[in-house]
Amino acid sequence: MRTAKLVLAASVLAALAASANGQIALSDHNFSGYGWSDNQICKPCHTPHGSNETVGRLWNHALTTATYQMHRGTGTATVNIDSSSRLCLSCHDGTVALDNFGGRTTGTNFVAGEKNIGTNLNNDHPIGSDAIYTTSTTSTSYNPMTVSSTGTSASVVFAGNTVRLRPWVNSTGATQFVVGCSSCHTVHNTGNFDHMLRFSNSGSALCLTCHIK
Ligand code: HEC
Ligand code: HEC
Ligand code: HEC
Ligand code: HEC
Repeated sequence: MRTAKLVLAASVLAALAASANGQIALSDHNFSGYGWSDNQICKPCHTPHGSNETVGRLWNHALTTATYQMHRGTGTATVNIDSSSRLCLSCHDGTVALDNFGGRTTGTNFVAGEKNIGTNLNNDHPIGSDAIYTTSTTSTSYNPMTVSSTGTSASVVFAGNTVRLRPWVNSTGATQFVVGCSSCHTVHNTGNFDHMLRFSNSGSALCLTCHIK
């Protein structure tokens, strides 16, 4: 009996692992076909040993230190952006080579075309210090949906869809909740929606989750 349960648990885990793997494998984040990736999927972003413990998540990729043109003035990767978005921008702002991982600093491949969003974030949806999500209901600046938060996590739920806000530490040391790249995207392509969005933006469902319009 006990053995049967263990076998069952193992096969469920194997199935889950296979489907998670399947999703990222279907996405732009499956780097295994590129020579620069050491023919692996996870390795450009994560490593089981010798990761960058300052950012957690077994992180393996060199970090951006860029200065950005934000919606409101200039800002930096270390001060104005939430920690998870900094990981994304470490490839997507075009300043750090894709192959700068595992301690390599001499990479020569960069994210290209429209996938390179650059260091001018003025023409992108606000994130970080430019997109502090009010937890009061008094703001009318962007007409927000009600947010629910517990401790260091917060989310907005509307019409069965959920977006996560990101914790971000402001200049007074207080944690606020902001929009980050992974509010709208899932880095592992969890649902296999277009552009690795959290859910389909058909009918602008993503936008309507946060904005009462
Ligand atoms: C393009 C970069 C990238 C690739 C490739 C990638 N990850 Fe991640 N992973 C991330 C980021 C960024 C986070 C943090 C997500 C967050 O903060 O919301 C993360 C978080 C995680 C976590 C922590 C829990 C979670 O899901 O948030 C696990 C486990 C994980 N990744 C496993 C993997 C495995 C296994 C692979 C390869 C099959 C992989 N990742 C490929 C970027 C990547
Ligand atoms: C290791 C580098 C790296 C990291 C880290 C990374 N990406 Fe990417 N991303 C890429 C590359 C390379 C592509 C594909 C570019 C191409 O095919 O031209 C891509 C493509 C994408 C696309 C386009 C998908 C589509 O179908 O249009 C999205 C969206 C995206 N990434 C979001 C993110 C987000 C959000 C994060 C952080 C949570 C992140 N990326 C972290 C390298 C990275
Ligand atoms: C408010 C939601 C939202 C946020 C925040 C957001 N994105 Fe996107 N992103 C989208 C949507 C929606 C699309 C698809 C646009 C379309 O349909 O043309 C997209 C497309 C992309 C693409 C594909 C570009 C293209 O034109 O094919 C990349 C790469 C990308 N996002 C990366 C990022 C990164 C990196 C961040 C954080 C700096 C980020 N996104 C933050 C919603 C968002
Ligand atoms: C996770 C919540 C969230 C999602 C999803 C979201 N927004 Fe926003 N949006 C915000 C916040 C927060 C701000 C910043 C408000 C401020 O402080 O000015 C903002 C600002 C804006 C602004 C004002 C920009 C400016 O220059 O002043 C526009 C327009 C906007 N969002 C459109 C969209 C669209 C279109 C989508 C869907 C692609 C979307 N938003 C998805 C939370 C969100």
